[in-house]
Amino acid sequence: MTAPTAAPHEPIDPHEPTQTGPQARAEQRPARTVLITGGAGGIGQGIARAFLAAGDRVILADRDAVAAAAAADALGGEVAGDSTADAVASIALDISDSAAVAEAFAGLAKRGGVDVLVNNAGILSVHGAVTELDPEAYRSILEVNVIGTFGMTQAFARHRIAAGGGGAVVNISSIGGRQPTPGMGAYESSKAAVDSVTRWAAIELAAHGIRVNAVAPGPVLTPMLEMGMPEGSPAREAWAGRIPLGDLARVSDIAPAVVFLAGSGAAHITGVSLAVDGGQLLT
Ligand SMILES: NC(=O)c1ccc[n+]([C@@H]2O[C@H](COP(=O)([O-])OP(=O)(O)OC[C@H]3O[C@@H](n4cnc5c(N)ncnc54)[C@H](O)[C@@H]3O)[C@@H](O)[C@H]2O)c1
Repeated sequence: MTAPTAAPHEPIDPHEPTQTGPQARAEQRPARTVLITGGAGGIGQGIARAFLAAGDRVILADRDAVAAAAAADALGGEVAGDSTADAVASIALDISDSAAVAEAFAGLAKRGGVDVLVNNAGILSVHGAVTELDPEAYRSILEVNVIGTFGMTQAFARHRIAAGGGGAVVNISSIGGRQPTPGMGAYESSKAAVDSVTRWAAIELAAHGIRVNAVAPGPVLTPMLEMGMPEGSPAREAWAGRIPLGDLARVSDIAPAVVFLAGSGAAHITGVSLAVDGGQLLT
């Protein structure tokens, strides 16, 4: 193996900190516009809240237009300061409808464009054993989770390339794509494909300065999941028992990883699927 050599104009001293103080650490940058699909859902709203806290603008895109508008209103009410008027917006969008996706990006381009895409929309509810599952049900989950994620990524990439390149995509995958649970294979194989689409897009879009990564949560206590699995319930105990760190993730455990992968701290990271799972993949 050849030892790495420092460029003559850029000496490397391993004892020298690369940053010298708070000024160096503070991220001075203009606000980004972040498009979050499935933005009306539990994890989508948490991701939007985290980007708003980082000073960015968010657009919640969801096929449930009423829920997306309500979520945008609620989040807008939480944002403090004078610049709240345009900090949160919502659009109605079915990510599996390629014509609607193209139309949405044409509209967004006229309104200042999008810097970051979070492909969070997904269907979780298709369950069934390999001997039982209706192929049409399988097709329906692939249509949204895989083709929808691909279509959004393609439209975003075209949009960013037309704008001169740069930008970031963060896909919301699942550790289920790497660790099976009986009855959940349709969903899990869709998320394995999301990880693969992440790597595919990352290697091709790197030349345009577009980074593509994924966050792969274990089970997350969204408000909906918490209702179905209250603390102390057998289902909650069964899931928690698989997790070395002892409990399911909160939405607030997932969102910071998404903001990180979208930001300059991850400038040299592309094509990864970062597990945020309390160590479940270790078991
Ligand atoms: N909740 C978990 O335990 C968990 C774990 C791992 C990964 N995830 C992933 O996180 C993401 C968000 O999950 P959640 O728990 O917030 O679910 P959720 O059901 O609360 O939110 C999903 C949102 O996506 C929207 N959506 C569904 N199909 C769409 C389409 N075709 N076009 C546009 N919007 C659409 C829904 O209307 C909903 O608002 C999903 O991709 C899911 O697979 C969730």
